[in-house]
This record gives sequence, C-alpha cells and structure tokens, in this order.
Amino acid sequence: MPRILTGIQSSGTPHLGNVLGAILPAIELSKHNESFFFIADFHALTTIKNREILISNTIETAAAWLACGLNTNDGNILYKQSDIPQVTELMWYLNCITPYPMLANAHSFKDKSNKLSDVNAGLFTYPVLMASDIILYDAEIIPVGKDQIQHIEITRDIAAKFNNTFGETFVVPEAKLDDKNMIIPGIDGSKMSKSYNNYINIFAEESVLKKQIMSILTDSKELAEPKNPNNCNVFQIYKLIASKEESKKMEEHYLNGGYGYGHAKKALFESTLEKFKKERTKFNELLQQSDL
Ligand code: ADP
Ligand code: TRP
Repeated sequence: MPRILTGIQSSGTPHLGNVLGAILPAIELSKHNESFFFIADFHALTTIKNREILISNTIETAAAWLACGLNTNDGNILYKQSDIPQVTELMWYLNCITPYPMLANAHSFKDKSNKLSDVNAGLFTYPVLMASDIILYDAEIIPVGKDQIQHIEITRDIAAKFNNTFGETFVVPEAKLDDKNMIIPGIDGSKMSKSYNNYINIFAEESVLKKQIMSILTDSKELAEPKNPNNCNVFQIYKLIASKEESKKMEEHYLNGGYGYGHAKKALFESTLEKFKKERTKFNELLQQSDL
C-alpha cells in the first residue's frame, strides 16, 4: 500500500481552492492508502506573524480536514508539522545540498516576492522545508494542486541528489494531480490563495460568504447583453460546484442575454451553501468543541 502525504498551510481558513484542489482528492486517496496529512504551520510563518491568528488558523485547518470527511480511525494520520522537530533538522541538511538557482527560479517564490511586501528568507527556502516534510516520512505519492508541481520536482531533485551523494537514503516521491488538474480561480480571476486575499471561504458565516461571492470581479456588460461564460470567473467557479445540468442552464442564460452577473452570483452562493451544507455544519460543531 503506497504511503501518501500532503500538507496545507495554516495561513488562513482552507478555502474553496484548497478544498476542491487538495483536501477532497486527498481524502478520496486516503480511503485506499496509508495517509499522512498535516497542517503546515511552519510554512504559514512565512506570512503570519501573530500567535493567536496562527493558532486559530491551525485549528480551523484541522477542522476543515475532518469536516470534509477525513477518517482518522482508519490508519490515517492528521498532525501538525511543528510537532515533529526532525522536519526542521532535516531541512538544514537539505539546505546545504540545494543549489541556490533552483530556489531563485521557483515560480511560487517569484510570484510571492512580486506580490507580498514581506519577502523573507523563509519564503525563499520554503521548497526545502517542503522537501523535508515529504522525504522525512518516506512518502511516495503527494496529492497536490497544479501550483505545487514545481515544488514536488524540487523535492525529487533534492532527494535524488542526497541519494547520489550519500547513498540510497530517501524515497523519491511523485506528485499526484487530481484528474481535473484544476487551479481554482479566486474572486479576482488569479489563482485563489490565502496569501492573495481573493478567496471564497466555504466555511464562513452566510453573510461573509455572500459578500465574498458578490465581490467576484466581472466585466461591466449590461444585464441585457449576451455574455461569454468562458471569460467569466463566476461561471468558472459555478461549473465546479453545480451539477452538469445546472451549469448548462447557466451557460445558456449567459449566451442568451437578459441575465446579469448578479443573478449568476446569487446562483453560485446558493449552490455553494447547498453543496457544502454537511461540511459547514460539521466544521462549526468542531470549532465549538475547540477552545477558540
Ligand atoms: P494557499 O495558496 O491558499 O496558501 P496552500 O498553498 O496552503 O494554499 O495550498 C494547499 C493545497 O491546496 C495545495 O495542494 C495546493 O495545490 C492546493 N490549492 C491551493 N490553492 C488552490 C487553487 N486555487 N486551486 C486548486 N488547488 C489549490
Ligand atoms: N506548500 C504547500 C502549499 O502551499 C503546502 C505544503 C507544505 C505541502 N509541505 C507540503 C504540500 C508537503 C505537500 C507536501 O500548498
């Protein structure tokens, strides 16, 4: 039985992109594999500097995994990255064999350093910590969203280099993308991310969720005009949540005109509530049981 492993940073409450792109596909795999899932709170320190916020994000991230159906009574392990100090110890050994240009060329570092005001060394060495997260546990399969593929390539290079230099030590892992290979767009159309503040929090109170969905960016076409569903963020997200028939219907509305972006957003809000009803309830129950 291959060992699978993945992590989610506790840099905010897991959002729609995390849930569809990482949590649900990983839980599906966990049903037939030995699974290690963790909350990457050390990675979150690259952006979060407040203790209370980090603690509440960590609890919310754990609650999201459990609310989405992770069964920890079935040989699956859910843990916090910082509970295992060996991960940072191994990171130092790996840092010392990682070529500087490999990190300097990572897309994620380039994107983040263009967008964030705090460009710290943790952001730069982020992929080495990720490599350590993976190879410390001899993980074989790493389910991740498309944005993380380069990080897994870096992990493979580091593991292979270590093995070549010091003898066979680590398993060289493989990324596993969900079949749909998706990058869920955020409310501004770029990749939905906790760090870009463009996310939809499916666990938020209704009024907050509604506000997030209502602020999805669209063009300024009038209600009467026909619209192109393929250029519209609202439709792109709706398609991932609603049934095929409902998506087809919305597509027709767009093409026919007489249907405004406000209508589409309202439909998206309602189907989000409907699709994640069980998860929202469970998430709130778990938070009530925590000390938050
Ligand atoms: P964020 O970018 O919001 O901080 P993380 O980096 O913690 O999210 O990502 C955790 C997991 O969720 C990763 O496997 C990542 O690929 C996946 N993921 C994050 N954002 C998206 C997205 N917009 N679409 C699909 N998957 C995503
Ligand atoms: N960097 C990943 C992300 O932002 C989170 C993460 C940290 C991770 N360590 C990992 C994912 C190890 C998979 C395996 O999405």
